Amino acid sequence: MMNSFQFSSLPRIYFGGGEAGRLPSLIKKYGSHILLVTGGSSFIKSPRAASLMQKFSEEGISYRNVRIAGEPSQEDIDRNVQLLRAEKFDCVVGIGGGSVIDAGKALSAMAGREESVIEYLEGVGTKEHPGTKIPFIAVPTTSGTGSEATKNAVISRVGPNGFKRSLRHENFVPDIALVDPELTSTCPPSITAASGMDCFTQLMEAYLSVKSNPFTDALALEGLKAVKESLHRVVNDGSDTEARSGMSLAALISGICLANAGLGVVHGFASSLGARYSIPHGVICGTLMAASNEITVRELRRSDSGNTALKKYALLGEIFLYEKNRNESWLVDGFLEYLRKLTDELHLPLLSEAGVSESDLKAFAEITDCKNNPIKLGSGEISEILEMRF
Ligand SMILES: [Fe+2]
Repeated sequence: MMNSFQFSSLPRIYFGGGEAGRLPSLIKKYGSHILLVTGGSSFIKSPRAASLMQKFSEEGISYRNVRIAGEPSQEDIDRNVQLLRAEKFDCVVGIGGGSVIDAGKALSAMAGREESVIEYLEGVGTKEHPGTKIPFIAVPTTSGTGSEATKNAVISRVGPNGFKRSLRHENFVPDIALVDPELTSTCPPSITAASGMDCFTQLMEAYLSVKSNPFTDALALEGLKAVKESLHRVVNDGSDTEARSGMSLAALISGICLANAGLGVVHGFASSLGARYSIPHGVICGTLMAASNEITVRELRRSDSGNTALKKYALLGEIFLYEKNRNESWLVDGFLEYLRKLTDELHLPLLSEAGVSESDLKAFAEITDCKNNPIKLGSGEISEILEMRF
């Protein structure tokens, strides 16, 4: 019998080239004064931003801009929530990469709360958030995290006592996801590659997750086909609009899938390593993806050669190698080889090159969570993965 499952609500999705032009009219549904969250400098200084501000002015929309450089911290959220308490905003709009969208999501959720955001973080705080918020519109400018479709915002403290924890509630799914692939056209190749690998990992981990279901499987496979068609192309030529569209779609789908099926050990590493070192999330995922899957497959084969996850790996082999009529083992091995080659082609750094200290590896092997990996890995296997990419 099929496993029981639930499926979270989705944002109202607007997808397509030029759709960002809808933003003023979408804002007007909520009112005319917005908190506009953007990144350090890239978007707000662009000609596209100037034209958007002109439209805001024509439509009578006023805004206050807060900039979030890097992954949002407790301090970023607590400091900017003061603005929300001092001034009435009709909605929050986040235009940027995953960090900006997470920041906007957290600010919209914390608008009515008195406490620090840390009180509500999973595994760190002790309070349960009631799910109240002001409306939030997510406008991604990279193709990666899929945060425009998820119910959590990741808040980070990086360093020796660091953490990466989620502020999470079903109500925190953005009200609107405005996904315009044209906004990603100026994203540089290194960020395109790292965010693309984050998206690829999320789709694969959700597809292989022990919590996957027929809805998430169907979506994840479509997202993975889009990654196959688009990832190489978009890294080699950022002006390839069709490939940009493919990756924007894949990223949106990856957010929907991870919100409903969960993730695996690669995202376990993203939490443990990412809390200690300032390495971009997509780089951690990308550099550890091939090795993590190699060890996962080995352990699946050792434990149960008929495991359904191996059949899923074989289907990924069919998609990524354009091969049919091969046996399961050939397809799985071929897919693992594809991942290894991709890691090299995208020049993803070794952990040592990214600044990870060898003396920390043992501790990471102990604390990294396998999440919903298709098979649980022990600290010995997790250590092997880290050593393969050190
Ligand atoms: Fe991710």
